[in-house]
Amino acid sequence: MSDWTSQAISIIEADFKRSADTHLLKVELPAIDNIDLYLKDESTHPSGSLKHRLARSLFLYGLCNGLIAGDTTIIESSSGNTAVSEAYFAKLLGLRFIAVVPKSTSQEKIDKITFYDGECHFVEPGDIYAEADRLAEELNGHYMDQFTYAERATDWRGNNNIAESIFAQMSREIFPTPSWIVVSAGTGGTSATIGRFIRYQCHATKLCVADPENSVFYDSYNSGNRSLTLQQGSNVEGIGRPRVEPSFIASVIDRMIKVPDAASYATIHFLQQVLDRRCGGSTGTNVYAAFEIIAELNAAGASGSVVSMLCDGGERYLDSYYNDKWLKQKGFNLKPYRARLDNFYASGKF
Ligand SMILES: Cc1ncc(COP(=O)(O)O)c(C=O)c1O
Repeated sequence: MSDWTSQAISIIEADFKRSADTHLLKVELPAIDNIDLYLKDESTHPSGSLKHRLARSLFLYGLCNGLIAGDTTIIESSSGNTAVSEAYFAKLLGLRFIAVVPKSTSQEKIDKITFYDGECHFVEPGDIYAEADRLAEELNGHYMDQFTYAERATDWRGNNNIAESIFAQMSREIFPTPSWIVVSAGTGGTSATIGRFIRYQCHATKLCVADPENSVFYDSYNSGNRSLTLQQGSNVEGIGRPRVEPSFIASVIDRMIKVPDAASYATIHFLQQVLDRRCGGSTGTNVYAAFEIIAELNAAGASGSVVSMLCDGGERYLDSYYNDKWLKQKGFNLKPYRARLDNFYASGKF
């Protein structure tokens, strides 16, 4: 191993040592007596999202497999958050970083990538994989390929992964083993890590994955068909894919819930009142599905806990989900979903 590689690993590990774990927030639901909801707040990582963990793992995977050297250009296909986090780590190691991003990526995310000296290469959403491949070949760089490697770059047995952290933080709660963990899928890496960890630890917890519109994951999960594709991309940044990504491991998922995009957006506006903070769209997708499960448990007279995820902060989406003009232009009517959420909060019924 070269001096540069051992130094690079040491820099990433030192960065990890300086980091604190993310909070597990308890969400008050006044109309629900015996079911507690928690949100793993991944927005507080230095690069602002759950992708901070993935980027660290992908860099260590590349370094330990001898795929990244001191003069390697790092290339990634990303809808934004992964690119922001990888730009953070590339800067830490002094490596050039190019994100191949869809033209529709929000200006806030582009600004974040360039803040860490990353470069953006804009393409049509359907071209990001092929273009990332081509660019890596042309520049003799390393294509990180999060959609393939997310599920194997993270050590799912533990090593302070997100699942181990959730279960450790739950240990002193009234219902320490969650009945359900509810997340969504972009690469599918987060759900794969959590699902495998649950099995490895023999927990009774079930895993639900919430899927937005314009995504093949839900239909693929129910039909078993992994070759489904769509033309149009998801309207919830970071989650929902037009193809079944290699990192999406259906066999560790117990249930999927389809969430309308307007419901996801209504949920983050609702959460702004309940939590006094803004969250990204995928958090809305997660929490809407979590509410559905809590309402079912409540109706059945069950008790227990449900854990979901706050994937990133809403400041990244001020021009879209938090902009009335954008919502209107896109034809999203949040009102019926907002009424349903307010009713759930008041009555516990969905
Ligand atoms: C905001 C947000 N939420 C959720 C996800 C999904 O995570 P995963 O890629 O682990 O499935 C992503 C991934 O990019 C994301 O950016």
